[in-house]
Amino acid sequence: MSQMAVTFNQVSHYFDELRALNDLSFSLPEGKLMALLGHNGAGKSTLIKMILGLLDPCRGEVSVLGQTQNQNLASKAASSDIGYLPENISFYDKLTGHEVLSYFAALKGVSARAVAPLLEEFGLAYAQHKAVKGYSKGMKQRLGFAQAILSRPRLLLLDEPTVGLDPQASQFIYHNLKQLTDQGCTAIVCTHELQLVEPQLDLALVLGRGKRLAFGTLDELVLNCGLGVHMAHPALAGLVATHPLLQSFYRDGDLICPVSQREVLMKYLTLECQLFDVKVTLPDLAQVYHAKMAQMQVMSELGLSLTSGEL
Ligand SMILES: Nc1ncnc2c1ncn2[C@@H]1O[C@H](COP(=O)(O)OP(=O)(O)OP(=O)(O)O)[C@@H](O)[C@H]1O
Ligand SMILES: [Mg+2]
Repeated sequence: MSQMAVTFNQVSHYFDELRALNDLSFSLPEGKLMALLGHNGAGKSTLIKMILGLLDPCRGEVSVLGQTQNQNLASKAASSDIGYLPENISFYDKLTGHEVLSYFAALKGVSARAVAPLLEEFGLAYAQHKAVKGYSKGMKQRLGFAQAILSRPRLLLLDEPTVGLDPQASQFIYHNLKQLTDQGCTAIVCTHELQLVEPQLDLALVLGRGKRLAFGTLDELVLNCGLGVHMAHPALAGLVATHPLLQSFYRDGDLICPVSQREVLMKYLTLECQLFDVKVTLPDLAQVYHAKMAQMQVMSELGLSLTSGEL
């Protein structure tokens, strides 16, 4: 059985009266990439800070790389086991890029020899002896990512890593991330860029107002939120008249069926209707996300609490 890199067990965190995280539970196995999603103020950065030990749970228990918060999680932020890219990263900007990474290398017990190759890898070698105050936003973000992976950590926490990056640089970050997770690193990526993260994620956790709205693989999320699979074929309109079973799925020229009935319907189309080249479109992460947010809105308008768990 795989080991868990991070476990939250009924965790709540309050800022005065505001419950930023509300009875949150999930377990993230080692070597997986989890997308952490949710609206502004949903609690994503709070969750990451709790993993780092920068915030303590007011209720419940957080366990990170086999240690609970009672076993001195507070030291985790500086640990070489964890790499962290905060949102809105800023550096002491009189230092050069090389000096910044050298500082973090010393802090994390990494050889200074690791710095130059990393700057090269991140396309910053040409600017390594320039003060960071002369870096563009994207250059600072690259430096931040390099800083986070400097110690080849077991757990990587990235809070909006591709904000401000050009499309190629964003692809580069995700490509790099994929290589790290393939080598066994666990990653939590907090992002609003759903299209970018979708091809890379193993699991997604969707938060809404501090609560878990959904957790699982993309397939599990699609199944759970009841979205339909679209099936398209030019012959469908004609077939509906002769095959009454299709009528209940037929909408605006396509068939739309629950994910759970997809296999059965496909079998029917091939065996009974002799259709072999049906175009099947599964809901994507953005559709899942918007469905979850819409469900949360409806629940809230109906005055129903989300305390009974997942929607
Ligand atoms: N230090 C703090 N003091 C008081 N309230 C805070 C503090 N940090 C966060 N909050 C509140 O906690 C809630 C969750 O904030 P958090 O920063 O975790 O959201 P987020 O999901 O990261 O949002 P975003 O997408 O905007 O980054 C918000 O209502 C926020 O106002
Ligand atoms: Mg945030």
